[in-house]
Amino acid sequence: MDRFECLACGPLGSRDPYSPFCPGCGEPLFVAASPRPGGRRIHDERPLAIEKFAEFLPLERIETELSLGEGLTPLVRLDRVGRALGLDDIYAKNEAQNPTSSFKDRGSAVAVQKAVSLGTRRIGTVSTGNMAASTAAYGARAGLETFVLLKEGTSVSSLQAAGIFGPRLVAVEGDYGAVFNASLAIGKRLGITFMNSIDPYRLEGYKVTAFEIYVRLGRRAPRTVIVPLSSGGHLLGLMRGFADLEREGLIAAYPQIVGVQAEGCAPLVRAFDKGLEKYERLAAGPTIAHAIANPTPPAGNAVLRMIRERDGLLVAVSDREMLEAQRELASTEGLFCQPESATTLAALRKLTAVGRIKNGEGGIVLIVTGSGLKTLHLLVSAPIEVHRLALDGLEAGLAGLCRPA
Ligand SMILES: Cc1ncc(COP(=O)(O)O)c(C=O)c1O
Ligand SMILES: [Zn+2]
Repeated sequence: MDRFECLACGPLGSRDPYSPFCPGCGEPLFVAASPRPGGRRIHDERPLAIEKFAEFLPLERIETELSLGEGLTPLVRLDRVGRALGLDDIYAKNEAQNPTSSFKDRGSAVAVQKAVSLGTRRIGTVSTGNMAASTAAYGARAGLETFVLLKEGTSVSSLQAAGIFGPRLVAVEGDYGAVFNASLAIGKRLGITFMNSIDPYRLEGYKVTAFEIYVRLGRRAPRTVIVPLSSGGHLLGLMRGFADLEREGLIAAYPQIVGVQAEGCAPLVRAFDKGLEKYERLAAGPTIAHAIANPTPPAGNAVLRMIRERDGLLVAVSDREMLEAQRELASTEGLFCQPESATTLAALRKLTAVGRIKNGEGGIVLIVTGSGLKTLHLLVSAPIEVHRLALDGLEAGLAGLCRPA
């Protein structure tokens, strides 16, 4: 049996398997770390990410056929971006390389392993896009009945990206936060294990990103990790991954973690700037960054607490800044991510400009959470230039487009 803990209440006696929240205080629950005598080992020789880092995960055994090969994503050097900012050692952890093109697959992989091991037949999720496709894919892989609740008005491409896997797709009218809470109560009555954004097993999957960064950097922690922030599940999973490495005595210093929100919907940045322990619900303003626009992030207070305890930072960037950063990552480094993911570079620019990030040792990692191919419709606001040439004028036209040698 796994043990659980709450940041405020400590270890828990028991837990409702259908709820990710602490019964005492209503804040998120985490799977408690379970140190092993003699320490935990990384199995480099095993093929799958969840097998390599199995000693850090709450899985008694791993059913390899449930995996879609998630994780083990490239850590790509961004030398042109670094030169433009006067910084050495900038990297992107390209999570768009996951099976359904976002980091969510790491969480779905672990949560589905757990669900199958417990004999669950029905799973579900409440999502605005990436998590819908990811949960539907892993549900299909495991042969589980899968329910995906999406907001009424979700883009056609998001519906298609999830629907192709054959889940029961349900568009729900109403407030996203309220649907999140309703899903847990309904799931309990109908026997549907909802693995939403802050599901404790999902977060265990996100820890693996921290382990992979550690290994790829030559078994050390980076100086800074910058990550887009919505519900808080991803950021907290990463932080718990680095905490595991620290607990095992594997890293000398804990990295600085920077969470990035969109200016149009930044309740956690607002609370952080005001020094509040709990965030205030804001009316969501306009932003193109739908995947990170959550006015009531369920792990928001836990994020504020962890970021404060570990000397991290929360910052907001505008839609224009994230679109510019998206264009820069694609055109100068060859990485096409969604604008939500490009918030990381926009934040790096901002923090460098005000001197809060300076050049130094250790490396800065941007977590590029999802693929730009999922949000092609957003390129409308930043058109792509097309040169029109007839075949008989092609050579002269191309010659005119060549850069002088
Ligand atoms: C591309 C992308 N980046 C970042 C996030 C934020 O992750 P979290 O809700 O775990 O904070 C999401 C969430 O859906 C996402 O789709
Ligand atoms: Zn609690």
